Amino acid sequence: MRDYETLWSAIPYPAFVIGTDNHVAACNSAAEVFASTSQKQMQARPLADFVGAGSAVVDVVEQARAGGSSVVLHDVEVVWADSAPRLNNLHASAMPNGEVLLLCHPRGLAEKMDRSLTHRSAARSVTGMAAMLAHEIRNPLAGINGAAQLLAMSASDDDRELTQLIQDEIKRIGDLVARVEQFGDLRPASREPVNIHDVLDRAKRAAMAGFATHARIIEQYDPSLPPVAGNADQLIQVFLNLFKNAAEAIPEVGGTITIKTAFRQGVRLQLPGQKSESLPLEVTIIDNGTGIPKNLLNDIFDPFVSSKAAGTGLGLALVSKIIADHGGVVECDSQPGRTRFRVLLPIWRAPKETEAG
Ligand SMILES: Nc1ncnc2c1ncn2[C@@H]1O[C@H](COP(=O)(O)OP(=O)(O)OP(=O)(O)O)[C@@H](O)[C@H]1O
Ligand SMILES: [Mg+2]
Repeated sequence: MRDYETLWSAIPYPAFVIGTDNHVAACNSAAEVFASTSQKQMQARPLADFVGAGSAVVDVVEQARAGGSSVVLHDVEVVWADSAPRLNNLHASAMPNGEVLLLCHPRGLAEKMDRSLTHRSAARSVTGMAAMLAHEIRNPLAGINGAAQLLAMSASDDDRELTQLIQDEIKRIGDLVARVEQFGDLRPASREPVNIHDVLDRAKRAAMAGFATHARIIEQYDPSLPPVAGNADQLIQVFLNLFKNAAEAIPEVGGTITIKTAFRQGVRLQLPGQKSESLPLEVTIIDNGTGIPKNLLNDIFDPFVSSKAAGTGLGLALVSKIIADHGGVVECDSQPGRTRFRVLLPIWRAPKETEAG
């Protein structure tokens, strides 16, 4: 018989066995370090005593047990007893006897925040550039366009091909400037309660009528979601861009785009110098397309990053800016055949009634 005890303590990640009654049945040594508590002190005590009753940690354990399966929850903020919150990916696997094996995989919070903040500043630099660019480019462009038109009038057929080329390219630059200008146009979103399913529905219908006719769309909605604190028009733009990218990545035949919504307790975002914000609303867009080219994966939210011949590379920069303005987070993971964009948003809270004076 092998000594599984040694194996168990060799697992470098905190691992817990949670009994059918949600009590801690066992844990490994990494878990003792994680919890700053000995196994002895944890044993037979309810998991909720340590993480709180409404915690996503308890949720994920119960989900796994109920489904008799494995459940993975990404980026859950775990507050263990009095410890500071830590971001973890949680893996819960149901075992045949009803116990659940819970693994905590700490996330590199610093790395995550770093990336999220870089997106923000990249988007901001586009905003600043937008007004200047538009102004500096539009006027000379109009002049060039006028001159090309004049030339075309007296040009031979051969030369007219060239003047047409000039005009086509001018139009392309004009369109690009218009897209960059969008950034400048985005006023700080006025927030109101927004039904995220209405937003998704409108974006989906626009997509189905236009660029996504070849896609099969699968919706997995949690109908009980509370409203998002947001701006509906801007959020529609976000999902249009995500649907468009998905539609452009999937095959003509057999392409699917899955849209999921869910409520995730315990997901919080902490920015330096700001109050941490709870982001429990999760919208996930998954496609079965080509996947994001590996060399772009870290940069796709930056402006002008594109693998497409006719792409401006501004779609995801806009997505990132709008979501950041909403106080939310967008992230993605991708491999050939499965690309997932995950948007986390805050819920709407009615402003506190001011005391009638
Ligand atoms: N769902 C996806 N599947 C595969 N690759 C993707 C997906 N979404 C984004 N990408 C990659 O990220 C790049 C950047 O996307 P982004 O939307 O910012 O620009 P774009 O789609 O190239 O141009 P535009 O949005 O202006 O048409 C894309 O060129 C593509 O390589
Ligand atoms: Mg795009």
